[in-house]
Amino acid sequence: MVDDFDLPYPQYRCPTCGKDLPLNEARMTVTCAEHQAPDSVAFAVRTARAGDRHDIEEICDRALGETEVDVFDRTFDVLAGENLIADADGKLAGLLSLAIDRGELVVVLLSVYPEYQGQGVGAALLRSAVEFARERGLPGIRVAVSNDDIPLLYFYQRHGFVIYDLAVGVLADRAGASVAGFSGIPSRDEIHLRRPVAAD
Ligand SMILES: CC(C)(COP(=O)(O)OP(=O)(O)OC[C@H]1O[C@@H](n2cnc3c(N)ncnc32)[C@H](O)[C@@H]1OP(=O)(O)O)[C@@H](O)C(=O)NCCC(=O)NCCS
Repeated sequence: MVDDFDLPYPQYRCPTCGKDLPLNEARMTVTCAEHQAPDSVAFAVRTARAGDRHDIEEICDRALGETEVDVFDRTFDVLAGENLIADADGKLAGLLSLAIDRGELVVVLLSVYPEYQGQGVGAALLRSAVEFARERGLPGIRVAVSNDDIPLLYFYQRHGFVIYDLAVGVLADRAGASVAGFSGIPSRDEIHLRRPVAAD
């Protein structure tokens, strides 16, 4: 049995018609490097401040429905984490929430609002996370991605992460059933990826 993912907010935006897309409506397209949209958004990455709390709660709500994230057999609270924000003219465009776990940096949540996607916001947030780890002498960055989340699997592997482990069925077990995720693909497994901080 596959339950519907019932978050009411769009997760992606169609680059052709601009329609906002809930996860199950999103589809993948393969394209050449020349036909990608040019970066047009001006933004800066900075560390979150106390005044960002409401905006952080909102992006968590839209991406997950809550601020607590279960990954790597632990529950991480985004509000208690090290949070990096992509700030586009005073608006939160994207959030990267980090925690230190077993001597390495863990990406707890990476989420970019649909209207800012595909313009380098995610890549800039990740570069700042690598810098964050390097400054603290942490040797690696780990992330857990659900099996259906093809855009995130693409994104992390493009940025030097490699798969090192697979927690088969853990998401379905936790939810009590498989939930329809990206493009309606059942969300079942947690894929663990890692990259060394010294990779670039
Ligand atoms: C995966 C994710 C983090 C990437 O963030 P991003 O800011 O779009 O990342 P970037 O622009 O740095 O890179 C995205 C890659 O996909 C490509 N891309 C092209 N069009 C795109 C589009 N419309 N949307 C996303 N990515 C696109 C980019 O060109 C880039 O590929 P490349 O590195 O091979 O050039 C982002 O899509 C995301 O947050 N996904 C989860 C959805 C979510 O949480 N939604 C809730 C928001 S409230």
